[in-house]
Amino acid sequence: MASRREFLKAAGVLSAAGLLRVDTAAASQAHAAPFQVPLRIPPVMQPINRDGRDLYKVVMRKATREIIPGKRTPIWSFDGAFPGPTIKAQRGREVVVRRINRLDVPTTIHLHGGRVTPENDGQPLDLIQPGRYKDYTYPNEQEAATLWYHDHTHHHSSRNNWMGLSGLYIIEDPAEEELNLPSGKYDIPLILQDRSFRRDGSFKFHDHRDHVRGHVFLVNGRPTPFLKVANRRYRFRILNASNSRGYNLTLDQARPLVQIASDGGLLPAPAPTVALPIWPSERAEIVIDFSQYPVGSQVILQHTDRNDPTVNRPVMRFDVGREEADTSSLPQILRPMQPLVPDGAERQFDLSFDFNRNRWEINGKGFDPDRIDVRPQKGSTETWTFRNLSSATHPMHIHLVQFQIMRRSNLAVTPGEMGWKDTVRVDPSATVQLAVKFPDEFEGRYMFHCHNLAHEDHSMMGQMKVV
Ligand code: C2O
Ligand code: CU
Repeated sequence: MASRREFLKAAGVLSAAGLLRVDTAAASQAHAAPFQVPLRIPPVMQPINRDGRDLYKVVMRKATREIIPGKRTPIWSFDGAFPGPTIKAQRGREVVVRRINRLDVPTTIHLHGGRVTPENDGQPLDLIQPGRYKDYTYPNEQEAATLWYHDHTHHHSSRNNWMGLSGLYIIEDPAEEELNLPSGKYDIPLILQDRSFRRDGSFKFHDHRDHVRGHVFLVNGRPTPFLKVANRRYRFRILNASNSRGYNLTLDQARPLVQIASDGGLLPAPAPTVALPIWPSERAEIVIDFSQYPVGSQVILQHTDRNDPTVNRPVMRFDVGREEADTSSLPQILRPMQPLVPDGAERQFDLSFDFNRNRWEINGKGFDPDRIDVRPQKGSTETWTFRNLSSATHPMHIHLVQFQIMRRSNLAVTPGEMGWKDTVRVDPSATVQLAVKFPDEFEGRYMFHCHNLAHEDHSMMGQMKVV
């Protein structure tokens, strides 16, 4: 019942106030047949210069794309692409991205999961004004991982991301290549986004405080697409780039999948599972072995209702279309990992909603760019506890670091969460404790915040100054 109401609300049939408001365009699209369009892989950017470091140039500009077949959707893009083009970086090799803003609004682009200086972090008020550009420098002195870049503008990240300002940033490392995981065309990104559309094909956006959800599921900018695969192993790099929606991903018929990586790269060991929760800004890499299925099989990736496993909504479909030899492997040890031993401050952050001020808060405070909330010491490992006093889930993200999840009050930490993380889901009324190691080489101001962009914009964000 709750989920049907939620669905109707998302489809625009019920407004937030519960009043009946019929939006036929939205309602009919909600029932559009899935698996009509092939998956596309976002383009990989080519550097314009490779002398000593890789230099990229990209223009943020308006464009239109066909997302719903037969409709044109105006977007805000990087070089016209939706999602933005993928940047592939090599560990230890510097990347500079010149981002030119030809939109009508200021933007600031954050490298999510990146270890970068505050000036290159894309902070909320470090804006690129229309007609200007900024060079962002990324050292890539960190292990291989699937990162992403996205807009982080003060109060407007929800709108700017919804309009299209995000893309993948993958750090590669020869040590990872030696594992012989599926690679090349068998290593495929799946960027999950949900969107609502108006009758004319344009995105429908509301600046809500609770959540901004769409009723159409997009993968790499395509509505519930299909992908033809061979009967062999594939690696999928899943990013939840949705503004607010958490997915509980499953394969139909409870088929198995194996998680191999999380936000900060490979897990210590492959983690077989049948359900993969993934909240905004989390990354989960999985291996699916299609050799278990005869040629001609169809395997559906779906979102399963957390409270009712019989309620599923398709995300995309894999069509096992051909035989192919497979020389890849899935080693039983991926990357040994030492548990962090906290030696620094212990901090607690209470997450709540203030009804008087109509905003989300951390420790009773909304975001104030002039206030520093905590001062961690570089090189130290702190204990951070997020205590959720509200009835919403908060995917909490900390800039600069990768952390380990030590414990969660309501559920065990799963094998898929035992790697490096930069975002952690804090369930309603739950408490999650983290070990957070601050790098030696970086100091200055960074953000931590909820990655439900509706919460982030209103105004669930704090600042730390690493000293
Ligand atoms: Cu993905 Cu502060 O952001
Ligand atoms: Cu939140």
